Amino acid sequence: MSMRRVRTVAALRTAVAAFRARGESVAFVPTMGAIHDGHLSLVTRARKSADRVVASIFVNPLQFGPREDHSRYPRPIARDRAAFARAGVDLLWEPHVADVYPTGDRTRVVVEGLSGVLEGASRPGHFVGVTTVVTRLLHAVQPDVLWLGQKDAQQAIILERMCADLLMPVRVRRGATVREADGLAMSSRNAYLAADERAQAVALSQGLAVARAKLRYGERGAAKLIAAVRGVWRHFPLVREDSIHVVDPVTLAPLRRVGAHALIVVAARVGPARLIDNLEWRGR
Ligand code: PAF
Repeated sequence: MSMRRVRTVAALRTAVAAFRARGESVAFVPTMGAIHDGHLSLVTRARKSADRVVASIFVNPLQFGPREDHSRYPRPIARDRAAFARAGVDLLWEPHVADVYPTGDRTRVVVEGLSGVLEGASRPGHFVGVTTVVTRLLHAVQPDVLWLGQKDAQQAIILERMCADLLMPVRVRRGATVREADGLAMSSRNAYLAADERAQAVALSQGLAVARAKLRYGERGAAKLIAAVRGVWRHFPLVREDSIHVVDPVTLAPLRRVGAHALIVVAARVGPARLIDNLEWRGR
């Protein structure tokens, strides 16, 4: 079947209702466009998880701070549509801002405790923008399964909490981070990097690889693991540390020592881009 495109919530609901009328289940992959292999791997997994795949492209203004890149965020819409069609998306929703934020809009969704820490501390208001938009997208699509990328681990943790707390009838699944050949996590923001910055951006994944090796050799002290990441980054002068944290992967509380399960989240500025990556440790 070829991919259908819709704009309005009414058209989206009619198209999804047609799937439902045939007894088909629906998986949903929300995106902000600038599609890369990370998004496409979510579509592949979504296809296996349900009869139909709905994707959205919406550069959500609410999740960008006043000094962030909303207006210059990449919007290669023709390329994105073609990539989604090839990957097997059945229905692509491309709402306008007014479709998602109707005139007079006042409602915000806040996941307390998790939204103001880590990324949320560096980007005030960001996660309220994410939870508010994803709530609206989920209400409109009403999927059986929601697919999120592990690269944005804090986002996934917050959205899992939100769906559970709001009794949303949706299963939240995470797809593994997809990486370039040298280990750099795929991200729409990699497009901002000049050649020398791109070469040094590999510091993020290399720092995490060294932390993983230390964990495998038995290191459990968070300070030592953070120092190991910093030790790698020191060799990359174009990489400026924003944050390195070792946290509990459910509560995001900082850990002094790693137990069976931990998350190391890193953020760095490389040229004009702020890049993130993470490592989930499950005692392996
Ligand atoms: O991860 C993203 O691309 C966005 O934060 C999301 C989940 C599509 C909400 O705008």
